[in-house]
Amino acid sequence: MDFLPIFIDIKARVCVVVGAGDVALRKIQLLLRAGASVRVIAPRLTAGVRRLHAKKGVEIEERTYQPGDIDGATLVIAATDDTRTNEAVAAEARRLGILINVADQPALCSFVMPSIIDRSPVIAAVSTGGASPVLARLIRARLESLIPAGYGRLAALASRFRDKVKTTFATPTDRRLFWDRVLQGGVAERVFTGHMEEAEEIMRRELDAAASNSGIGEVYLIGGGPGDPDLLTFRALRLMQQADVVVYDRLVAKAVLDMTRRDAERIYVGKERDNHAMRQEEINQLLARLAKQGKRVVRLKGGDPFIFGRGGEEIDTLAAEGIPFQVVPGITAAAGCAAYAGIPLTHRDYAQSVTFVTGHLKDGSVNLNWTQLAQPNQTVVFYMGLIGLPAICEQLQKHGVSPDMPIALVQQGTTHKQRVMTGTLTNIQQVVEREQPKPPTLIIVGHVVELQEKLSWFKAPARSTQGATSPHPEPR
Ligand SMILES: C[S@@+](CC[C@H](N)C(=O)[O-])C[C@H]1O[C@@H](n2cnc3c(N)ncnc32)[C@H](O)[C@@H]1O
Repeated sequence: MDFLPIFIDIKARVCVVVGAGDVALRKIQLLLRAGASVRVIAPRLTAGVRRLHAKKGVEIEERTYQPGDIDGATLVIAATDDTRTNEAVAAEARRLGILINVADQPALCSFVMPSIIDRSPVIAAVSTGGASPVLARLIRARLESLIPAGYGRLAALASRFRDKVKTTFATPTDRRLFWDRVLQGGVAERVFTGHMEEAEEIMRRELDAAASNSGIGEVYLIGGGPGDPDLLTFRALRLMQQADVVVYDRLVAKAVLDMTRRDAERIYVGKERDNHAMRQEEINQLLARLAKQGKRVVRLKGGDPFIFGRGGEEIDTLAAEGIPFQVVPGITAAAGCAAYAGIPLTHRDYAQSVTFVTGHLKDGSVNLNWTQLAQPNQTVVFYMGLIGLPAICEQLQKHGVSPDMPIALVQQGTTHKQRVMTGTLTNIQQVVEREQPKPPTLIIVGHVVELQEKLSWFKAPARSTQGATSPHPEPR
């Protein structure tokens, strides 16, 4: 390690900046944010520095640097475009034992300034020790997206409850476990979404429950998207990595399941067509039971939980039992498959609306409002329609749709096994016989399918064998 990472309290301390260009200005602003008393020495002062002098009380000396200028300073920054001046400032600082940073000259620095993510009072700092400031900035950008904006509020809330937590839990281990749980669970999530009062209320409840040993967990109903793990939302990923238990079904892609916390318990509940490992009512009860044991339960579903996902029924049970839950939307198969297949679901010239329907056969027939689905200038997307495909094509034509209407089948959309098969209402059955698509397959009907060839961009690697294999995990 070339540098010791520390955070210094410079409130009301004298910090000297030699130079007044853009770089110096950024450093002065940072010093001010940390409460320093800043003195700037430069022969020509820029408008920005003058403004800080007028508004923030920055002391200015409009002249060149002279020995003795940094006496008594806590730290010094040299940011002039004159190497000799920078070297002179650095030499004097070293002689006086004052911390010195010289812009763009790491060899002259006794400290470097990291890229920071400011969620005050939480500060994350990234440094490459001057080796590559751009790399530090790139890492910072990544962290920016991982550390929710509400972390500052969360830290402030934690600080308000610190004493109470100390008196509630006798041992440091118990305190740590408690903080681990609340800072990643429902309290944190409420803070991030701006529900501070609710967060405080849950915090109080958690503390009361901990005191009486009766903690209650929480359920996160998460849309895992159609298969590509890159399509998960930040929130989904965050909650998935906090799970004590993951309850998942067949449509959740293995790559998505792999993003859940490694040591979380995994429970497969199936839901293959006509082969449900667990009935819906049992799943609802399972979620409630696990949460009552104090666990953070991730209920992971394919696509979006509220689109043909029965997510509503699952949280209905939780709501009735007073179990906290939240719902995280996911990319639904229609949006994911269409995007990855190059089929815009709406288009000014082809379709002004899009309808999502289930093609699931009930008693051997697809019971839908065919008159409405046969209207022109729209796209119709059928979920679970593969078995009912002949009936779908027949009914649409019967209700006036042209036999030449384009239709696409997207199998295992967004995954590396994606297949796109196109045809018309009259010949798609021959395509099916030839290509043998397997579930999960989505059906898109409408003129927008004509654009597929031109707009297709996603290339799944070539298949070694004909016939689909499941992209989805086996029960474990
Ligand atoms: C029970 S529905 C669940 C839909 C899910 N909640 C969603 O929002 O995407 C299952 C159907 O979604 C479609 N589906 C889901 N994922 C798919 C994928 N990756 N590729 C193609 N179709 C998919 C198939 O039509 C499948 O039969």
